[in-house]
Amino acid sequence: MTFTVAIDGPAAAGKGTISKAVAAHFGFAHLDTGLLYRAVGRRTLDGEAAEVAARTLRPEDLERDDLRTAEVAQAASKVAAIPEVRAALVDFQRAFARRAGGAVLDGRDIGTVICPEAEVKLFVTASAEVRAERRYLELTAKGHVTTLDAVLADVRERDARDADRATAPMKPAEDAVLLDTSAMDIPAALAAAIAQIERKRPGRG
Ligand code: DC
Repeated sequence: MTFTVAIDGPAAAGKGTISKAVAAHFGFAHLDTGLLYRAVGRRTLDGEAAEVAARTLRPEDLERDDLRTAEVAQAASKVAAIPEVRAALVDFQRAFARRAGGAVLDGRDIGTVICPEAEVKLFVTASAEVRAERRYLELTAKGHVTTLDAVLADVRERDARDADRATAPMKPAEDAVLLDTSAMDIPAALAAAIAQIERKRPGRG
């Protein structure tokens, strides 16, 4: 059985948490596609050309423990605007999406470009303020030193770059279900996502 759940949306909207939990709930594999762009961005910070890094991405690049910093997030958003970088990462994502047993992919262009045929498409969003606060709490809990204002500026800058780029901009697919988590806690957001997937599972009408 192949069954793809595409979960797109802006930074810190809750995509990652929802995707992981949904994959565990249904026993699907999960791919955080942002990690691919972060790994490429990380290698550009180390001095490599983005296109070369994307073409030669290795499993160990995804296992580095420094991919979650604000610096790497910005580098990821920049390399993600380069068409050759995106093209180099397409086949891997598509193969993952159609693997047997079901897959959840989260990112910015999964429902629009990588997997337009996905059985379920969710666009998870929340206000920039709510997302910045969540990311701020997450970063400070991990010991990063920053301010809420700095995180909000970062979130806005990344949103603008990701949504305005010419190639595969972040946007909901026409047939995506919007999930605004601004006023939802994690269990409520997860329940809403699971309900959408249940409706589309084989044999459930
Ligand atoms: O989801 P994330 O914050 O880890 O993603 C980091 C950056 O990578 C994000 O700012 C835009 C880019 N990205 C993308 O362009 N397409 C994807 N499918 C996933 C991430």
